[in-house]
Amino acid sequence: MPIVSLKDILDHAFAERYGVAAFNVVNDLTIDAVIAAAEEVRSPLIVQTSVKTVNSMGADVLYQLFRAIAEPARVPVTLHLDHCPDREVVTRCLQTGWNSVLFDGSALTVEENTRQTIEVVAEARRHGAHVEGEIEGVRGVEDGIGSDDAPQVYPIEEAVAFLEATEVDCFAPAIGTAHGVYATAPILNPERVTQLVARKALPMVLHGGTGLSATAFQDLIARGCAKVNISTALKVTFLDATREFLADNPTKQDPPSLFRHQRAAVKAMAEEYLNVFGSAGKAW
Ligand code: 13P
Repeated sequence: MPIVSLKDILDHAFAERYGVAAFNVVNDLTIDAVIAAAEEVRSPLIVQTSVKTVNSMGADVLYQLFRAIAEPARVPVTLHLDHCPDREVVTRCLQTGWNSVLFDGSALTVEENTRQTIEVVAEARRHGAHVEGEIEGVRGVEDGIGSDDAPQVYPIEEAVAFLEATEVDCFAPAIGTAHGVYATAPILNPERVTQLVARKALPMVLHGGTGLSATAFQDLIARGCAKVNISTALKVTFLDATREFLADNPTKQDPPSLFRHQRAAVKAMAEEYLNVFGSAGKAW
């Protein structure tokens, strides 16, 4: 199965109302683990990278690792750049081979965000790539991007005008979710997804997936959230598995056995989400 586009994956999921997990990977081991999970349950998959991961590994190395692992996979896989306010990083990733990008202009005025998103969409199209748009930030700082303040929420009309003007391929609306671990249960606004989809039939993106209940996921997916972002859960799983292994094996000097333990934990976590999101068995 060749690497496919984000649009292929999301259009299919949106039409059939299942969600596709977008896991924020941190290295080759986690790329391998989430792809192995997708193969295990026959699910399409979005491998997602933060700007921090791109900058720490280098776009070229990260892309080559993704490609080497994803190309032989027997399920559809795509590579997406998460929240990126930096146009230079957007350009670097598109030139390197990323299939899609989230240009995060949420700190800009909607007018300026619209202007720049139109440019990013044109740039992406030249590479055969796709774009996620957003006008409202997602609460919570993740990998150095974002804010702990509640985002400004714009009227539906303004969001629809942004979608019409920019022709982005999917959209991340503010619906009460946040990045990181929820201190208290979030107050969600699922109706906003329904209202947006009624006005513009476009796959919506659910940010801040870690910590939501299966019921909340399934309700939001049924309303049109076709891409579901999971970052914190992967990091917690990876680090908990590391701590557990080191505590159980304080004198062992064998890194590969640690790697096997980390991979198994991340793979199991990913499989659980793929089953909850209804994408298991949907690979083509
Ligand atoms: P979590 O860290 O809450 O899983 O959110 C992930 C996300 O939305 C990445 O953009």
